[in-house]
Amino acid sequence: MQNLSSNQKNPFVVSMISTKGGVTKSTNVANIGAFCADHGIRTLMIDTDIQPTLSSYYHISNQSLFGVYELFNRPDLPIEQIITQTEFENLDIIQSNDPRDRLTTELNGLPGGVLKFRELIKNIKGYDLIIIDTRGTRGITVDMTVLASDLVISPIKPELVSAREFVRGTINLYESLSIFTNYGISLPPLKAVINCLDHTRDAKDIVTNLYDIFSKLSDENPHIELINFEIPNRVAYREAASRALPVHRHSKIESENIRKLCSILFPQWSAQLENE
Ligand SMILES: Nc1ncnc2c1ncn2[C@@H]1O[C@H](COP(=O)(O)OP(=O)(O)OP(=O)(O)O)[C@@H](O)[C@H]1O
Ligand SMILES: [Mg+2]
Repeated sequence: MQNLSSNQKNPFVVSMISTKGGVTKSTNVANIGAFCADHGIRTLMIDTDIQPTLSSYYHISNQSLFGVYELFNRPDLPIEQIITQTEFENLDIIQSNDPRDRLTTELNGLPGGVLKFRELIKNIKGYDLIIIDTRGTRGITVDMTVLASDLVISPIKPELVSAREFVRGTINLYESLSIFTNYGISLPPLKAVINCLDHTRDAKDIVTNLYDIFSKLSDENPHIELINFEIPNRVAYREAASRALPVHRHSKIESENIRKLCSILFPQWSAQLENE
């Protein structure tokens, strides 16, 4: 657990978003979070999905009784009490504990409910990075997360249906949130990342196609970018997950891939991320 009062600097807030399910959001939050934590970046993961994949991804060393539901509903609780520590140094989590999705109902009924997360996150100190996992469907918990973020990462699989869903879902999401820019809230840049890339001819053609689609998209939406790096489709990701390990601790090759990914996403920490 961090000494939460020792550092008053605001953490960099990142979220993993896709309006499509099963595109590797939770895996990426777990791997990016743990890689950063292993390089001295004090990291807090927040699981806002009702299916708590991320919450049980790593072994826990100090279990909180509370989670995301109390973050919203128990202002009397000090933040330290709702944070769970993983077995890894510098890596904590606020777990998902709202299987019946009460938060969605409550936030929808609250004027300005979509901005509440943004306010709550501002009170969390003592971390360098907050990385948030979301569910794979559109809803107020995804909207609130985008509005609370400094950067949005969106994994995209090399299939044309994924590209279409990205354009339909994520671009619509950004368009509908653009109303908030009238109130001084700027929307975060979005970096899409191709995931699970295999060596088939078909996948290569689709990647070329995706870069094309995104270069046109970026003309109209300058804050949207497809980064020039692809995460490969490798069994190491599943193996690491089933051993409750970050993939960089499980596979040397993937360690270098995650390093490259994190250096592109977080240029402010690139020197730190280079250390072994
Ligand atoms: N690079 C990879 N190569 C191969 N398999 C991967 C890779 N990354 C993740 N996976 C596997 O893909 C599956 C889906 O990943 P994950 O649960 O992270 O997706 P998700 O977007 O969080 O899904 P949901 O929308 O249900 O929350 C998992 O079985 C995971 O182990
Ligand atoms: Mg998930």
